[in-house]
Amino acid sequence: MSQTHSHLQLNQQGQLRHFLTVEGLPETLLTELLDTADSFLEVGERAVKKVPLLRGKTVCNVFFENSTRTRTTFELAAKRLSADVLNLNISTSSTSKGETLFDTLQNLEAMAADMFIVRHGDSGAAHFIAQQVCPEVAIINAGDGNHAHPTQAMLDMLTIRRHRGDFRQLSVAIVGDILHSRVARSNMLALQTLGCPDIRVIAPRTLLPVGIEDYGVRVFNDLRIGLRDVDVVIMLRLQKERMQSGLLPSEGEFYRLYGLTPETLALAKPDALVMHPGPINRGVEIASEVADGPQAVILKQVTYGIAVRMAVMSMAMAGQTTQRQLNQEAE
Ligand code: NCD
Repeated sequence: MSQTHSHLQLNQQGQLRHFLTVEGLPETLLTELLDTADSFLEVGERAVKKVPLLRGKTVCNVFFENSTRTRTTFELAAKRLSADVLNLNISTSSTSKGETLFDTLQNLEAMAADMFIVRHGDSGAAHFIAQQVCPEVAIINAGDGNHAHPTQAMLDMLTIRRHRGDFRQLSVAIVGDILHSRVARSNMLALQTLGCPDIRVIAPRTLLPVGIEDYGVRVFNDLRIGLRDVDVVIMLRLQKERMQSGLLPSEGEFYRLYGLTPETLALAKPDALVMHPGPINRGVEIASEVADGPQAVILKQVTYGIAVRMAVMSMAMAGQTTQRQLNQEAE
């Protein structure tokens, strides 16, 4: 499976042409992506926040599921690369999903779009589009079901690298609703590829997926044990919209056992980073004092997200262009 994924995502020279999942991508490529994102952070600090890398290209945000942060940061990233941007919010459409996905994208392809940023409630949607619908268009996965959210993972990696440096020295804990979280899955894969030796997952049994150990993580059901001496804490939202009833006694009970409060955070290293992909639910998984406190880098994650998305888009566009040239030479 991972072989197929990485093969589909890379061109014949091993460059990125779609970004569907972190799974199967080599450490060198993830590091190149982080280095490229680092260089784009400086663009965001200029008076004129633009570079011409995607000038004349059309990027379509195709969101079948709601999003604020992810969609707007992709839009800003595309605009900072000088692309033309279309925003399609299809979550309100009443047409059946299969038809909407296929037909909408084929229509957009006919308008000569160069890149689709896709968010979809079904796991595998971005792969399906890259494989079956529009292989010539760069497809960037902005979150598919509970499967993958690779740009979120890479912005989390950039945050960790900028604030803590070498992954090989770190203990990182991911806390909360792992079962429904595409962010958790992509983060576990990225941390593993980047050589993090101690990845911990902390959750009640009912919010852990079957086979979690296969990700090379240590599983804790007790927050107070799992958080001990970690360098980074990644909190997750309770994804109630994906939850069957009966998985949790109550939000109050969850907060009491798994909430990140000043008391529980004190169990981690004194300067441990506090991260969250957003949207945060204050008093459900995280206390306001912690979310707004000195160890939190939650808003930095948003800023870094723009640079990471610029890096992903410029690399995928370059990879598509190279592949097209190779195809022409072969003809
Ligand atoms: C996450 C998502 O959509 O998967 N949010 C995000 O992209 N910023 C996590 C969440 O919704 O809780």
